[in-house]
Amino acid sequence: MSKEKLRIAVQKSGRLYEDSIKILKDAGISIDNGKEQLKASSRNFPLEVMYLRNGDIPQYLRDGVVDVAIIGENVLIEKGQDIIQAEKLGFSKCRVSMAVPKSFKYSGIKDLDGMKIATSYPNTVNEFLKEKGVSAELHIINGSVEIAPNIGLADAICDIVSSGSTLFKNGLKEVEVMLKSEAVIAISPKISPERESILQKLQFRIKSVLNART
Ligand code: PRP
Ligand code: MG
Repeated sequence: MSKEKLRIAVQKSGRLYEDSIKILKDAGISIDNGKEQLKASSRNFPLEVMYLRNGDIPQYLRDGVVDVAIIGENVLIEKGQDIIQAEKLGFSKCRVSMAVPKSFKYSGIKDLDGMKIATSYPNTVNEFLKEKGVSAELHIINGSVEIAPNIGLADAICDIVSSGSTLFKNGLKEVEVMLKSEAVIAISPKISPERESILQKLQFRIKSVLNART
């Protein structure tokens, strides 16, 4: 038998981690080590799991350093439009939305013309604003974006909204949904034919799990 293994990237920390491991487990794939080791092998399937930072995964796929990933669609839209997207996995559902302070009398996107917007999703925001013919000044921050209006850094924010609790706790209201997202399988454009055939087996198992879940 071939020693070839498929390399899959999974989010190291964050909301996708647990459900990503669970779907692999439900597909009958056991992974030995915890994520502290950053790279783990399966005992019963030709798979190597690499635990990576969300935002780094598109580049690893592009370079062919990993063959496949479980990742949020929102990250692919922001950083990996060139990467092949396969199955939607039905978990980690969220939206990428624009929000403003509750006191802001918002009547439409034109209200943000000339304003400052803090976000971790500059490409998504720029595309959205361009389409709407609105120009704004973007401040790129990587986390805790919702604090920006309260410290005077921005007039509005654009970030992931799931339960809405972070917006609520920071006195913000959601005013535009830019996109909806969930976890998906993403495939490297550089995957080899050998690994592609392992991937087909993995996808077959994952599809069976998804069918059983509905
Ligand atoms: C994410 C995201 C939002 C929040 C949305 O942040 O950036 O802030 O979750 O979830 P909610 O609508 O259920 O409150 P996270 O807590 O992962 O931290 P980070 O922004 O520092 O990365
Ligand atoms: Mg956050």
